[in-house]
Amino acid sequence: MKRGSLAAWLSESLGLEEVILPNGVKDKAEALEELKKIVFKCQKCELHKTRRNYVFGEGNPYAELMFVGEAPGGEEDKHGRPFVGRAGKLLTELLQSIGLEREEVYIANVLKCRPPRNRDPRPEEIKACSPYLDRQIKIIQPRLLVALGRFAAFFLLGRPVTLSRSRSIVYETRYGNKLIVTYHPAAVLRDPRKMDLVQQDFELIKKVLEE
Ligand code: URA
Ligand code: SF4
Repeated sequence: MKRGSLAAWLSESLGLEEVILPNGVKDKAEALEELKKIVFKCQKCELHKTRRNYVFGEGNPYAELMFVGEAPGGEEDKHGRPFVGRAGKLLTELLQSIGLEREEVYIANVLKCRPPRNRDPRPEEIKACSPYLDRQIKIIQPRLLVALGRFAAFFLLGRPVTLSRSRSIVYETRYGNKLIVTYHPAAVLRDPRKMDLVQQDFELIKKVLEE
């Protein structure tokens, strides 16, 4: 996707006005439930035709730490929950390694429906779906966002990124919170040499949360 069109869809993405907040008008948990109802009716891209379940995201609506992945995979599609397959198990273990339980954080994806055979998200799908993630972030207002993989990093930084050069940096986002970019747990499962680097990134997450 070109830079010009990215800027256009990012500003377009702010136009989802059905859900009120973030101005303390409604409780965060309630606002997320309302947004979920909208997502569960969504037919904005082709992916709704092939998914089994929408995967809205889950966790603590008041979380200080929010993870953003790419899109549901097979297990997630089957259960309607994010990160419940092998990559999810690794994410849970990484969280536990820094003293956190899954229930304490919030976990969502750029896409809410599974791409067939887990192919990469397409630009038009990211464009259609990311306003939901945008709204989730605005409702939750986490202190720290963590992008898992390049599609999440692309959306949260607003530009294409090279993960090896973006990790171990604490960014400031357009939402006013901090952002750390790391490899997707599925990439670590494919290439265990990345494990050390991801562990370092989780130590950085812990450090930022303790600040
Ligand atoms: N990979 C993702 O990016 N998200 C999930 O929810 C599961 C696997
Ligand atoms: Fe709607 Fe997102 Fe599912 Fe596409 S992927 S149908 S935009 S919820």
